[in-house]
Amino acid sequence: MENQTLTPYKSDRSKKEQVAEMFNNISGTYDFLNHFMSLGIDIIWRKKAIRELKSMAPKYMLDVATGTGDFALESINILKPEKIVGVDISEGMLAVAEKKIKERNLEAVFSVKLGDSEGLPFEDNTFDAITVAYGVRNYENLEQGLKDMFRVLKPGGKIVILEFSNPQKFPIKQLYNFYFKYVTPWFGKFFAKDKAAYTYLPESVAAFPDGERFTTLMQKVGYSQTIHKPLTFGISSIYTGIKHEA
Ligand SMILES: C[S@@+](CC[C@H](N)C(=O)[O-])C[C@H]1O[C@@H](n2cnc3c(N)ncnc32)[C@H](O)[C@@H]1O
Repeated sequence: MENQTLTPYKSDRSKKEQVAEMFNNISGTYDFLNHFMSLGIDIIWRKKAIRELKSMAPKYMLDVATGTGDFALESINILKPEKIVGVDISEGMLAVAEKKIKERNLEAVFSVKLGDSEGLPFEDNTFDAITVAYGVRNYENLEQGLKDMFRVLKPGGKIVILEFSNPQKFPIKQLYNFYFKYVTPWFGKFFAKDKAAYTYLPESVAAFPDGERFTTLMQKVGYSQTIHKPLTFGISSIYTGIKHEA
């Protein structure tokens, strides 16, 4: 099934509404399940992705689909930007991010805002760098989401996207498919009380145009020097691209 038409709850509402509802439902257990189900490897992947921006030392950053804020917090640790804004369509996820911001006294550096990647509430050419972790797979219109992030990126700016991908080689492919198909929905049902959300997870990964198909889409909307780096047997991938100076 295509990325755009795959939805968590199979109701008549738009994918965006269903995705926002799903993340509102699971926001309380999201962080725990993330680290638990990935055996903590997601933390290593996040650090590796953020290091892609180290040499450019961005000052003003945007973290799209920021959720509970972990990717933005990693940017703050590694890159020390002057300001980072997190945007997400789920109020529940943002409430968890806001709690972390307060607890860490980061109000001057990190702020969050309700907003949609397909129509971002920012002027053209605003940010030095944009990050997205495990968000693009959930966009209703992937091309539009990539295009609007390109619009708000400054010329010379860089985007870093981290997303699940589909391993191709035996036996990782088979193990991964088994884990995602049978184990994660069970954990989702047990801990998050939302089996549909964790059934949607592997389905959305399978439907996502990963690897070169994704870098081709990035190029189509304007990014150049696109690079695709598979991590840990291709379970996740880092994608980067540049908005060329005019
Ligand atoms: C799997 S979570 C990732 C959260 C966080 N980036 C992380 O790494 O843990 C995906 C997030 O994408 C958000 N999302 C989905 N579609 C979006 C869109 N069109 N615009 C902004 N956020 C979106 C969801 O609400 C959810 O919080």
